[in-house]
This record gives sequence, C-alpha cells and structure tokens, in this order.
Amino acid sequence: IQERTLIAVKPDGVQRRLVGDIISRFEKRGFKLVGLKLLQAPEGILAAHYHDLKRKPFYPALIRYMSSGPVIAMVWEGYNVVRSSRAMVGETNSAEAKPGTIRGDYSVHISRNVIHASDSVEVAQKEISLWFHSDELVDWELCD
Ligand code: CMP
Repeated sequence: IQERTLIAVKPDGVQRRLVGDIISRFEKRGFKLVGLKLLQAPEGILAAHYHDLKRKPFYPALIRYMSSGPVIAMVWEGYNVVRSSRAMVGETNSAEAKPGTIRGDYSVHISRNVIHASDSVEVAQKEISLWFHSDELVDWELCD
C-alpha cells in the first residue's frame, strides 16, 4: 500500500468555498482520493487530534474555531504524499507561507489557516484512524 495522509479543510476553508480548489490541487498533483466526508467535528475527535496542544494558550480558541462549522476530512494516497502535501499547504504561520501554497494563497493568520495536513507518516496513520473507520476508505485503481 502506498503512503497516505489526512487532509482536512478547516471551517474557514469550507465557509469561504475553497473546498473545490483544494481538492483540485491534490487531484492535479497526481494523488489519489481514498476517503472523503463533510462533518461537524466531534469534540472527542478534536481533543484527541490536538492533544499535544492542550496546554497552549490558544487551545480553547483553536477548539472553538474547529467547531465553528463543518470540516472536510480527506485521505489522500500516493508517493511521498505526507511530505508533498505539507509543501503544498505551506507554513503553519500563514505570514511565512509562500505564494503558490494553499495557505500562502488563501490565509493571512495562523489562527485561520484553512487546512490541516499530517506532519509525518506515523502521525498520518494515527490521524486517519481517528477521523475515519476503515470501511470508509476505498481501495481503487485506475481502469486500463
Ligand atoms: P495546524 O498546524 O493544522 O495544527 C495546529 C493548529 O493550531 C495550527 O494549524 C493553527 O491552526 C493553530 N495554532 C498554532 N499556533 C497558533 C497560535 N499561536 N495562535 C493561534 N492558533 C495557533
């Protein structure tokens, strides 16, 4: 099986109608979509997802932001997809994100940074099993 990563369009990205553009960038890059859903992120998932940030001063605001509307959770598969998608997403701090990256094109502030991408293969595996049941992921191949 090829490498997989969890990509989530955050509530600001959904509200600003950026979902289509973001999906399009991953498709055109050559990655394969194997899971996709729109959901109001449950508190339990957010608490586990942001467990490492629990003591940060911005944590309560982060949870409010991530709960402010639906998110699009996706699993993308492909060669080096974890590292490549981090490059496509750009720096966490939007002010540092280069033009041409998703954050560099669509976000001005770290607290409204439009998209999440797993930061390592190990973390990706954990995040995928947190956000998706295994029967929600589809193995598929291009037809000849
Ligand atoms: P991400 O890297 O996807 O996951 C952690 C998130 O915490 C990050 O995006 C930001 O949305 C948020 N975050 C990190 N640092 C700050 C900060 N200093 N102020 C507000 N939000 C932050």
